[in-house]
Amino acid sequence: MTTRLFFIAGNRGERFVNERNVRHERLKKWVTEMAALCRPDSIHWCDGSQEEYERLCEALVRHGTFTRLNPDRRPNCFLARSHPSDVARVEDRTFICSRRSEDAGPTNHWADPDEMRATLRRLFEGSMQGRTMYVIPFAMGPLDSPLVKIGVEITDSAYVVVNMRIMTRMGRAVLDRLGADGEFIPCLHSVGAPLQSGQADVPWPCEPDPAKKFIVHFPEEPAIWSFGSGYGGNALLGKKCLALRIASVMARREGWLAEHMLILSLTSPAGRTHYIAAAFPSACGKTNLAMMQPTLPGWTVRCLGDDIAWIRRGADGRLYAMNPETGFFGVAPGTSAQSNPHAMHTFERNSIFTNVALTPDDDVWWEDMGVPPPAHAIDWQGQEWTPDCGRKAAHPNARFTAPAAQCPVIDPKWESPEGVPLSAILFGGRRPSTVPLVNEAFDWEHGIFLGSSAGSETTTAALGKAGILRRDPFAMLPFCGYHIGDYLAHWLSFARSGDRSKLPRFYFVNWFRKDDRGRWLWPGYGENSRVLKWIAERVEGTATAVDTPIGRLPSPEALDISDLGLDAEDVRKLLEVDVSGWRREVDDIETFYKTLDDRLPPRLAEELRNLRARLG
Ligand code: GTP
Ligand code: SPV
Ligand code: MN
Repeated sequence: MTTRLFFIAGNRGERFVNERNVRHERLKKWVTEMAALCRPDSIHWCDGSQEEYERLCEALVRHGTFTRLNPDRRPNCFLARSHPSDVARVEDRTFICSRRSEDAGPTNHWADPDEMRATLRRLFEGSMQGRTMYVIPFAMGPLDSPLVKIGVEITDSAYVVVNMRIMTRMGRAVLDRLGADGEFIPCLHSVGAPLQSGQADVPWPCEPDPAKKFIVHFPEEPAIWSFGSGYGGNALLGKKCLALRIASVMARREGWLAEHMLILSLTSPAGRTHYIAAAFPSACGKTNLAMMQPTLPGWTVRCLGDDIAWIRRGADGRLYAMNPETGFFGVAPGTSAQSNPHAMHTFERNSIFTNVALTPDDDVWWEDMGVPPPAHAIDWQGQEWTPDCGRKAAHPNARFTAPAAQCPVIDPKWESPEGVPLSAILFGGRRPSTVPLVNEAFDWEHGIFLGSSAGSETTTAALGKAGILRRDPFAMLPFCGYHIGDYLAHWLSFARSGDRSKLPRFYFVNWFRKDDRGRWLWPGYGENSRVLKWIAERVEGTATAVDTPIGRLPSPEALDISDLGLDAEDVRKLLEVDVSGWRREVDDIETFYKTLDDRLPPRLAEELRNLRARLG
């Protein structure tokens, strides 16, 4: 031993991983170059320790970014309020800078990589003045997983550091694993709010001008540059930027899949377990399904992940799914003891809440939390709030950041380096009409057709207008780092090699059917276990289905809903094939397919023609 791994930095009292002991010259060189560009006051190499986390949280409290919540009710929990302009992912400002624009495809914003690099260099120039630059070595996936990818995020936001500590495996173990010359993906992030000397800081620094925010991916390097936002997927670069946009490109090259999917296990009263992944667009129910409490007696659901699945073929020919994250960044509004009791327990301690309301006893509150609103509160914008004031107390995209290990129904295999073998893959979205409660694909190719045509009403998880139907293939529209036509071809390729019978079955589900007056037809949440039960029984070959033009629907007696007390007309609607609605659907899918030009896999065009023919 020559020197100790840690030392106390003289001027700020912060503990550094001793960068002289970082053996990775390329990493050190990159950090030095980025520091020269961004000109921070100091550099902090994150060790990932609990002590470091606590120190940063305390600093965030002193700074006014964090409010410590009531330690008796919510120990070690904090509330943050963002700037009102910085509340969701900015899809308009998200770029895929491949060398050729056609490789980004029609669903991504493309920019020339050299021009974009020049733009970014201008923006990052001096952008960290007056701030600390944090260096966060992080791993997506267990360090011993065959799929693990390592990133290093440089950020000037301590809020990002503490969120990354919950969401990823980060710190010294990752540096050790990188060794002297391991591969890492450089991820540069700045909130874009340099401080002139003497200038006072604000609790949530960011670049308020939307035109100056940039979430940029260079898939061929690979590298990520993010400027101007401190919120969620814009700033926690391991999540959507690395584990989906960059990873999807790597996955295609390396023969695996990086997906916007939850992973759960479903165990029947007889003790048989199936692993299921599900792709729903943002704010369409992944977290809720991933940790649901089944209403059906004897059935158990356990959670392995709520947002991202990395999937690879195992030696036995089955597809294995692994969650690369270690935490949940979940939508708070609507989360209640009724809708998602397990989430409510997950964030009882050691959690961060962003843009929810603060109650007079220093706890959190949001709309549809299942408890009466406080007589008054501080809303997500820091203003006095009363139930009759006409404003929402929490932002609709308010989120909790909570450690996955605290989930009371976390699956014992959630950190398995190999992942778990999938029996079924679900697609879904918010479809108030036309799309039935559940529909089984005829085969692999038809399943990929169903996934390719997935769509949803837009939600508040991204800035822009909510409630408009948009096609969102595999819930990957905002997250696929390459041409979506090539992406669909990649999925199709899995049936061309290997044993088809080992592949998971595909299902399309829709918890969001409404009647003409806007009432939900399906109770959802824990009752969704009734649909999961049918799926498990289909996989096992014991439940019946009827062939329809759109796929296989449950025969009425096969779906276990008799004790639900649903209106017979509602059940009929939930399971009907609305032929005229589906003809319009086919036209709309065709319009979307046309945007893919010559990269639409011919097999999917054929599936669409076949569907049209079956509808008559
Ligand atoms: P991201 O984190 O953005 O990827 O979202 P998500 O897919 O994990 O969605 P989440 O589970 O957080 O649900 C988002 C919203 O959908 C919440 O307001 C839920 O209350 C609502 N929701 C979830 N499941 C159901 C359901 O089965 N039925 C109905 N009606 N609403 C649901
Ligand atoms: C989503 O929008 O799908 C999320 C939240 O999971 S964020 O991390 O902000 O992307
Ligand atoms: Mn998501």
